[in-house]
Amino acid sequence: MSVSILVGLQWGDEGKGKIIDVLTKSVDMVVRFQGGNNAGHTVENGTEKFVLHLVPSGILYQGTDCVIANGVVVDPVGLMEEMKGLAARGVDLSHIQLSARCQLIMPWHKELDAFNENTADPSKKIGTTKKGIGPSYMAKMARTGLRACEILDKARFEKHFRDEAAYYNKLYVPHGAAAVDADSAFEKVWAACEYLKPYIKDSVVEVNAAIKAGRNILFEGAQAMFLDIDHGTYPYVTSSNTISGAACTGAGVPPKAIDMVWGVLKAYTTRVGEGPFPTELNDELGEHLRTKGGEFGATTGRPRRCGWLDIVGSRHSCMINGVDYLAVTKLDVLDDLDEIKICTAYRIDGEITEHSPADTELMKRIEPVYETLPGWKQSTSAARSWDDLPENARKYLNRVAELLDARIGIISVGPKREQTFRK
Ligand code: IMP
Repeated sequence: MSVSILVGLQWGDEGKGKIIDVLTKSVDMVVRFQGGNNAGHTVENGTEKFVLHLVPSGILYQGTDCVIANGVVVDPVGLMEEMKGLAARGVDLSHIQLSARCQLIMPWHKELDAFNENTADPSKKIGTTKKGIGPSYMAKMARTGLRACEILDKARFEKHFRDEAAYYNKLYVPHGAAAVDADSAFEKVWAACEYLKPYIKDSVVEVNAAIKAGRNILFEGAQAMFLDIDHGTYPYVTSSNTISGAACTGAGVPPKAIDMVWGVLKAYTTRVGEGPFPTELNDELGEHLRTKGGEFGATTGRPRRCGWLDIVGSRHSCMINGVDYLAVTKLDVLDDLDEIKICTAYRIDGEITEHSPADTELMKRIEPVYETLPGWKQSTSAARSWDDLPENARKYLNRVAELLDARIGIISVGPKREQTFRK
């Protein structure tokens, strides 16, 4: 029996959904604890592909409890549409629960997200998903947000909704933000709230009861370490804590309940949106990784920026997250390369460092120091065990594990469930 957390170690899109789907075979409950529908977790069950945004990645296994816990910001309309889409494809939704403590993303949060992005000085744009994530977390911290528990009382919900919509219109519309028509917006949001009402539960109690009962639980991180509001490349980050520690606050569980942390690491690095990316490849090689890896955002469709594996950043991630096991994904994308580089140190203003700087301005001046390894020049996509991998692929993985001082637990060589094996 175990309680595990799974987090991304880079800038997101490491393939967390797939690894969670694979681990869920032996899990009773999957819990999302931060972020919102800015996430796009892609899961293939053998015959079909699903992209999940708010619904936990355990949903494709019959009977696995799927919890959207208090740390998640929930767009009621987005969640309803996602659930209806899954139901139309025959997925059983009866095991989903939405925490009564979740903050709700409201129409003005999305307008404000778009307004901030569209009017920002080009050098200050974050490149957000425009899903209203930042403004919703702003409202949470300002203690003005609407929460899922309010859905249970329509009159109270409607009053709060209209007050906040009016406040937004008064504050931002004179400066050029799009106005929110409270009547039509309320009608649309309320229809979604009615749909979600049966799923609302006090998940803190449910998750803690499951821990006490010795059930296998997996906390599903969204985004990743370098998008963390405290530890990422601030301000080019998302608005939540994305690290393993956030599972405790985001679901209301004590740190001592956690047995294990999985860190998901793509065999190279990608990033969507603005911000520094020391090992980025703005050349044919970067284009090759993007094309071969299908590196286009699952939520926004934007092309992802691609580059070499960054050990300095990944080591920082392993330290903060307390990673016990690595799941290395997309190894097959490197199959055709003659040689593969790993960034083992940074040179900043002539000085060598093996640590990730706190100041993002310094990060922009990083010159990566690379170690070069030979490629394996053959397909790994049919590999089903460690021994099936070409020798140079095993050498690459062993070197990565050595540099990160972490054990490799899972390797993924393609999008399908069966293209995943334990070391
Ligand atoms: P926001 O989370 O929409 O506010 O966007 C902030 C930054 O996080 C932007 O650079 C987004 O591209 C990035 N981001 C947010 N969610 C994800 C994700 O699930 N994968 C990768 N990048 C993400």
